[in-house]
Amino acid sequence: MRKKAASGSNTGNGPLFSKVFAPAKVNLTLHVTGQRADGYHLLDSLVVFADVGDRVAVRTAETLSLDVTGPMAQGVPSDASNLVWKAAALFDTPVAITLSKYLPAAAGIGGGSSDAAATLLAISDLTGQKRLPEGTVELGADVRVCLMRQAARMSGIGEIVDPVPDLPPLHAVLANPGVEVATPAVFGALTEKANKPMSKALPRWPGTRHLIDWLAAQRNDLEAPAIKTEPVISEVIASLGALSGARLARMSGSGATCFALFETREDAEAGAETLARDQPAWWITPATLS
Ligand code: C5P
Repeated sequence: MRKKAASGSNTGNGPLFSKVFAPAKVNLTLHVTGQRADGYHLLDSLVVFADVGDRVAVRTAETLSLDVTGPMAQGVPSDASNLVWKAAALFDTPVAITLSKYLPAAAGIGGGSSDAAATLLAISDLTGQKRLPEGTVELGADVRVCLMRQAARMSGIGEIVDPVPDLPPLHAVLANPGVEVATPAVFGALTEKANKPMSKALPRWPGTRHLIDWLAAQRNDLEAPAIKTEPVISEVIASLGALSGARLARMSGSGATCFALFETREDAEAGAETLARDQPAWWITPATLS
């Protein structure tokens, strides 16, 4: 079942509108298990979503348009090159979109994919069109999991998404050093493509501590090639891992955002405060993942 996405309301005779939250996606694990003939990599990844994210608002309009605002808007395109625009262009109904950016771009936390998924959900809410148009998956490998917006195991090249129900709550600090990472470059720097997947059946974790212990034995295979591309990522992981109460520090996606996991929200908030004091130029936030 999909989490409820839309939070807009429509009253009176004005244009119809719909607002949807676009949560950050975090890859708790990311095992690269092979490469297809077309160059795309086979993945086995446990994905969760954060309570921090961007916001997408759409309203009916004469023509398609995109306005990008918010604290992380700088450098984000507001033309047809933005995935949000590409997602909206799949529908017959033109809309005016406002994208409020709170997440860093090209950061391994699915900003673009989550924004695109939120746009699809917002327009489908606006138009009452239940079936999403053709071409949504082609927008990006993470769009399908971002449409689901709940803990899931993602495999294939990202097109196979199986929900993982009853995941114990996780508390995290997310940190990004402000360098944009090009995903193809990171995949390109990966030397060993055929790595071990996660266990065929995922265990049942009785609590947060068990889940973190299990996660510690898993991997993000893109971490090493990402560090080769952007060495500052190893500093981010080390700084996160050194925070009081941090049980595990790892990179998400192809970077450069990394996360530390904690057993309580209080520890995560204290960790985020400490790190923000030490690294005022980094993007840092506490988050609860589910
Ligand atoms: O689909 P998306 O735009 O997110 O992917 C960006 C790039 O990352 C692709 O062009 C490809 O080079 C690489 N990629 C990959 N295998 C995947 C997903 C992405 O090689 N499963």
